[in-house]
Amino acid sequence: MKKGRHKFLDLEAYDTDKMANTYLAQYDKLFTELINEPVTLLELGVDQGGSIQLWGDYFPKGTIVGVDVRIPDIVFPERVHAIQCDQADKKKLTEIADTFAADGFDIIIDDASHIGKLAKISFWHLFHNHLKTGGYYIIEDWGTGYWDDWVDGKSTDLENYDDRDDDIFPYNFPVRKLKTPMNNHSHGMVGFIKQLIDEMGAGDVTKKLLSNPSVRPSKFESIAIFPGLFVIKKAQFDYFHWEKRLEEASEYLKKEHIENSLHIYQNLILKREDERVYRGLAACYSFQGKYMAALENLKEGIALNPNSPYSYNLLGEVLNKMGNYDEANKYFLLARSFIENNE
Ligand SMILES: C[S@@+](CC[C@H](N)C(=O)[O-])C[C@H]1O[C@@H](n2cnc3c(N)ncnc32)[C@H](O)[C@@H]1O
Repeated sequence: MKKGRHKFLDLEAYDTDKMANTYLAQYDKLFTELINEPVTLLELGVDQGGSIQLWGDYFPKGTIVGVDVRIPDIVFPERVHAIQCDQADKKKLTEIADTFAADGFDIIIDDASHIGKLAKISFWHLFHNHLKTGGYYIIEDWGTGYWDDWVDGKSTDLENYDDRDDDIFPYNFPVRKLKTPMNNHSHGMVGFIKQLIDEMGAGDVTKKLLSNPSVRPSKFESIAIFPGLFVIKKAQFDYFHWEKRLEEASEYLKKEHIENSLHIYQNLILKREDERVYRGLAACYSFQGKYMAALENLKEGIALNPNSPYSYNLLGEVLNKMGNYDEANKYFLLARSFIENNE
């Protein structure tokens, strides 16, 4: 029985190395659910045009866009577009995205320069601004970072990864030795994707201490790594836009456009609990003289993050306005102690 979308295509017809390097077999597993959907796919790196033609047939209802510094002089089928653009040209990438995928791409594949620093520029720009939540961003050929003859690559020796220290049982190592980092390789594409692994750990990265709450979750739902293929699924919660909305609300608040600020905070709190949103709501209500509503919101915010000096400070300000000076003082002091402990 035929299995996998690629088995239904005449693969000889496409001038691309996606079959030889076995990527297509992985893509088959990844994209099963999407085949008959009107997907929007952007590929960085067109070369002879074989892969974007393949994607056009792979997704019969798809819109396929390829970008490259050099575009081959051929006529592409309907729904398949090739555009000249450097992968690091953020402005042009945005123009292309606005034209073909105003709501964001479902799939973005980087098969262009395979240079870590360029791949990183395209990644964060496209990931934040032009990839749908739940969408896939795939980085091909990340192994170039292990090649001495690649422009930003360097060879490494897996066999020499610190096995001197393996025999630590029973655990009698001085703690300072346990804090020594493992040997690692971080050149070119390999260094870039290892940074992306840190982003996957953002929940813990932003805690800094076991006992602290996370400041934010990862922007990624998951990462899957295969030889040569690095696959990121974007989280359903779009952290970047969340932060932008929070900044907007805070700007309105500073300019005392309270209705606008309140409107944004009220929308945000329907989507997700965040101490900063409760604090923003409290600040708006306090400005409007609705002190009880301000206190209610501060209580919710502090329950979520009991370590935020800003909530305690605002609590002090609200109690002060209510004439409750002793209580207010107590919270001002508490806020100050949190700030001093963090210094
Ligand atoms: C591996 S080929 C792409 C192959 C194609 N995706 C396929 O599967 O048939 C890499 C392409 O990236 C292009 N390229 C290199 N640097 C680039 C950059 N900075 N911006 C855009 N494209 C770039 C090259 O011109 C080349 O055509």
